[in-house]
Amino acid sequence: MFSLQSLTLHNFKNYEDFSVQFCPSINCIVGANGVGKTNMLDAVHYLSLTKSAFNSQDVHSIRHGEELFVVSGKFHLAEKKHQILCGLQQGQKKTLKIDQVPYQKFTEHIGLFPVVLIAPQDHTLITEGSEERRKFFDTIISQIDQNYMLNLVQYNHYLKQRNALLKQAKERGTWDNDLLATYDSLLLPLAQQIYERRKIFTESLLPAFLMHYQYLTEGAEQVHIRYESDVENANFPRLFADNLRKDFELQRTTLGVHKDDFEFLLGDFPLKKFGSQGQQKSFLIALKLAHFGIIQAQKGIKPILLLDDIFDKLDDKRIAKLLAMVARQDFGQIILTDARPERSRQILQEIEAEKQFIELK
Ligand SMILES: Nc1ncnc2c1ncn2[C@@H]1O[C@H](COP(=O)(O)OP(=O)(O)OP(=O)(O)O)[C@@H](O)[C@H]1O
Ligand SMILES: [Mg+2]
Repeated sequence: MFSLQSLTLHNFKNYEDFSVQFCPSINCIVGANGVGKTNMLDAVHYLSLTKSAFNSQDVHSIRHGEELFVVSGKFHLAEKKHQILCGLQQGQKKTLKIDQVPYQKFTEHIGLFPVVLIAPQDHTLITEGSEERRKFFDTIISQIDQNYMLNLVQYNHYLKQRNALLKQAKERGTWDNDLLATYDSLLLPLAQQIYERRKIFTESLLPAFLMHYQYLTEGAEQVHIRYESDVENANFPRLFADNLRKDFELQRTTLGVHKDDFEFLLGDFPLKKFGSQGQQKSFLIALKLAHFGIIQAQKGIKPILLLDDIFDKLDDKRIAKLLAMVARQDFGQIILTDARPERSRQILQEIEAEKQFIELK
């Protein structure tokens, strides 16, 4: 059994000093708008993934007017206890420690204490451009495959250098063919590997995703996720080489896995344009639950499920469907938030599992 036993926050977002104990099954954080429910989930996200789920800049997680934040948590994992600590001081590098020992590479930590977060902000996966979706899939695959993460880091590194070279070339009106060829020979095999991994991953995610969507919506409509990449073209290396003139003009690499997309479809149409709010929300929940299943299969443990405002916008039938999954103990530890305590108390009272309400003031 994997769970978070306690969480301590110091100058993290709206918290000055705060400690809380969690039970191993259902924890329901309740309180008014702006009281810090989502922030608490984000602190747990830090301990698992070393970063915020919402802020791209860590300094924004330091409480206004303070110098540093510290988030620490005690986890129970495979009969052992571990303390994870993540801290940031203004102007310094973020630190991450396991049982008091600092990590040299944060990437070593990712995947060890997995969480899956379902939050209203997931909606940007549908509304934003392909970068959001790539980031989402990359984070998941990185959680289960360190090699993929390393490939991605390498790819982005060479891509940046190639782009810098293209920029210089444009300014000078000439380029160093050998140097460019060196970057290409480094980038292309990485692109191929990243493509293969994303393709296999999408294929392995689809059955669970479709199953969850069917379950939640009782088969109301068909959905699909289609992975699209320049690399799927059999002549990709040729295309890539032929594209040099364009790259040179635009001063960036215009083909490659950094352009991939994962298309979300409702029937044959883009979910973004043609999906109702309920269909979009169900799509995202199904996607996240499929993510949950992948981690569980890979690690043999159930990730901690962080559910932010999950009851909001879901109709009674879908809430009932979700709760039936909880009641069947499909999930391990759950930490959920609700701004309406009476609602969640009423909804959860029908479930037998152990539960705890944490009221924030
Ligand atoms: N760096 C920070 N320093 C101080 N306060 C912050 C910081 N970052 C966020 N906050 C505050 O945290 C509060 C929001 O907290 P949070 O999003 O966790 O609320 P919530 O309980 O989830 O509310 P809701 O029910 O509306 O979702 C806001 O008042 C915001 O100003
Ligand atoms: Mg919130």
